[in-house]
Amino acid sequence: MTVHVRSYEPADAQPTRRVFQEAIRGTAAKHYSPVQIEAWCPTEYDETAWGRARERAWTVVAELDGDVIGFCDLTDDAELDMLFVAPSAGGQGVARLLVGEVLAYARGRGHTAVTTRASRAARPAFEQFGFVVDRANPDSVIRGVAVPNFSMHIDLT
Ligand SMILES: CC(C)(COP(=O)(O)OP(=O)(O)OC[C@H]1O[C@@H](n2cnc3c(N)ncnc32)[C@H](O)[C@@H]1OP(=O)(O)O)[C@@H](O)C(=O)NCCC(=O)NCCS
Repeated sequence: MTVHVRSYEPADAQPTRRVFQEAIRGTAAKHYSPVQIEAWCPTEYDETAWGRARERAWTVVAELDGDVIGFCDLTDDAELDMLFVAPSAGGQGVARLLVGEVLAYARGRGHTAVTTRASRAARPAFEQFGFVVDRANPDSVIRGVAVPNFSMHIDLT
């Protein structure tokens, strides 16, 4: 499996949203209730607003045979906000590849640490990448619904 990582382009709005939906409904759904999943990943969404949000951050996508299978980003304040891999491509190092790119970019920008708010599904992967848990956020709310996560960070020094 040869995965290619490249910068996000405007045409990636729909494919990255598909990956987001598949990852949440296929992988993260094992860790959250249906109500939490619908709040996190509503069936109805605004593709233009989604695309703008991806372009506001520094976003990279992973491609396999021309299909987007994952994406990850870094905000201006050194937060890794999004990390999603399609279940069909899971467990093969795609997230490790994407996070490696983001951490290299963060180092290049002079950041000394990167933070994230990891889902229950993603926490073990972030721990494998060297992130540590700072606190649990049991009351983190998305669209009025509590969707617990963990504040984590990695030192880059
Ligand atoms: C979390 C996620 C991004 C991982 O993507 P992936 O491409 O399957 O991850 P990788 O194959 O790169 O694995 C990364 C490491 O984490 C480990 N890992 C991943 N999930 C794990 C789990 N549930 N338990 C233990 N270890 C796990 C892997 O063994 C691997 O370790 P290694 O590289 O030392 O072998 C993906 O499962 C996903 O999109 N999840 C649902 C969406 C989500 O919650 N996103 C995060 C929002 S904050």
